[in-house]
Formats: sequence, C-alpha cells, structure tokens
Amino acid sequence: MLTQVTTVRYVTPLREGGSLPGVVEATDADGAHATYVMKFTGAGQGRKTLVAEVICGELARRLGLRMPRLVQILLDPVIGLGEPDQQVQELLKSSGGLNLGMDFLSGALGFDPLACEIDPVEAGRVVWFDALINNVDRSWRNPNLLLWQGELWLIDHGASLIWHHNWRTVETATGRAYDASDHVLAPYGPDVASAAAELAPLVTEELLTGIAAQVPDAWLVDEPGFEGPDDVRRAHVAALLPRAETIHERIALGEPRPKGATK
Ligand SMILES: Nc1ncnc2c1ncn2[C@@H]1O[C@H](COP(=O)(O)OP(=O)(O)OP(=O)(O)O)[C@@H](O)[C@H]1O
Ligand SMILES: [Mg+2]
Repeated sequence: MLTQVTTVRYVTPLREGGSLPGVVEATDADGAHATYVMKFTGAGQGRKTLVAEVICGELARRLGLRMPRLVQILLDPVIGLGEPDQQVQELLKSSGGLNLGMDFLSGALGFDPLACEIDPVEAGRVVWFDALINNVDRSWRNPNLLLWQGELWLIDHGASLIWHHNWRTVETATGRAYDASDHVLAPYGPDVASAAAELAPLVTEELLTGIAAQVPDAWLVDEPGFEGPDDVRRAHVAALLPRAETIHERIALGEPRPKGATK
C-alpha cells in the first residue's frame, strides 16, 4: 500500500494544472510534516485519472525513471471551509477522505526544450515508457516534465491507459501504435530500441501485479463488467504485459524537427 499521510493545511493551488492540483502540508504516522502535491478525487477528471497516476507513476519508478514518490493523502473537508477561492473550496469540500499525493519538488522548473540537453538514451527511455502507457500528455505544449536539482523528472500520467475508459475494446486499444511525433523528446533522437531491450524484460506479470495492488480499492469498486477491485487490477496487468513486448515496433517518431518546434 502507498504510505498514508493526513492533510493539515492547504497551501496554494497549482493553476497550471487543468485539474487544479494543490500544494498541501501533511503529516505521516510519525507526525513528520512534509509538503505534497495533491490530486483530488472531487476533480472533474474523475477517479480513473488517479488510477492511471498510481499505475504509471509506480511503473516509472520501478523502471528507474525519476518520478516523485506517491502517497495516499487523507483530507478532512473542513480544511476547505476557510478557503476564500470558491473553486478551491468546492474542490476540497467534494474530496473528503482518500486522495492522491506526491512529493512536492520544491524549486523544480518546467522543462524547456530550448534550454535542456537530454541524451538519446534517456529520451528513448521516456518515449518507450510513454508508448507503453499510451501517454498523450508529453507534448511541446504540455511536457509534464520537471527539471529538479539538474535532473529530469516525470509527472502527470492521468491521461494515460486510455483502454481503462472502455474495457470492452481493450485488446484493440492496447494493440494500437503510439504516435510520438508530437512528443516533447522526439527531437532528441530517442533510442527506443535500446530502451526496449533494457526495460521491456523488467515489465513482468509479478511487477505489474505488485503495482496494481497499490491502487486503493475505493478507486476500483463498482466498475461495470468486473467482479471487484482485484478483477480490475488483473485487467490492468493483462493490458500492459503484452504491450511491453512489442510496442517498440509501433512507435512513430515522425519527421526530424528542431527542439521545441511543433510538428
Ligand atoms: N511533484 C511536483 N513538484 C513540483 N511541482 C509540481 C509537481 N507536480 C506538479 N507540479 C506543478 O503543477 C503543475 C500541474 O501539475 P499536473 O500537470 O500534474 O496537473 P494536471 O491537472 O494533471 O495537469 P494537466 O492540465 O496537464 O492535465 C505542473 O505543470 C507543475 O508545474
Ligand atoms: Mg500537467
């Protein structure tokens, strides 16, 4: 299970994020304070966004990609009562109980393709990973990459795993190619072949089962067509496992283009 922490203070909204994530202070079981980015169950994007965040975020970390640590974060909606901003107050009021948190990377900068050098091996690992999870949210317009202490960190995987929005077509969806022509790292000459050789063998049934177990039951219950949360977890494992073996053959990088340019 992800570590559980309890919100003690809402600090500020992160207005660049469409789901209005917030920076909060929270305490762990030992009473230690830390700052987290909180993604709310009451946000319009719904709980599947949080499921994708957990599965993809944990997968990234276990493949050795840098991704802030995820936690379960409890919220007492009373914390929202004193919020002057109506939108924030509504979000806090509708998100009582369990939410998703991640370590706040203080002082992190948004990734700027014109100012950063990324080597083809690292670019290849990120593009291969995004292809596996079908991440459509790593474009030049919205890179969802942070530079922190001189290194590249991945965030925001809520729009991945498109197949879990329509399980009836899961096989067709997971069999599809990945169009990386608009990927922010496409211009860095990503070496997807060596990334696949390195990373695909790590994506085992055991690894994926352990990752799916991290998703709280509350975000998986009452999924139509499934017997319960474990059944949904198995479907996630079954979707990703075969895709890991072959997706490198179906990554379209498009025409070479300058860094920071759209296609
Ligand atoms: N762990 C973190 N540490 C520091 N800053 C963060 C962190 N996570 C997110 N941010 C900042 O908050 C912004 C919004 O976060 P994120 O992209 O995860 O939200 P979102 O609502 O899912 O966004 P989107 O509109 O892209 O779907 C990021 O662009 C980044 O500037
Ligand atoms: Mg984002």
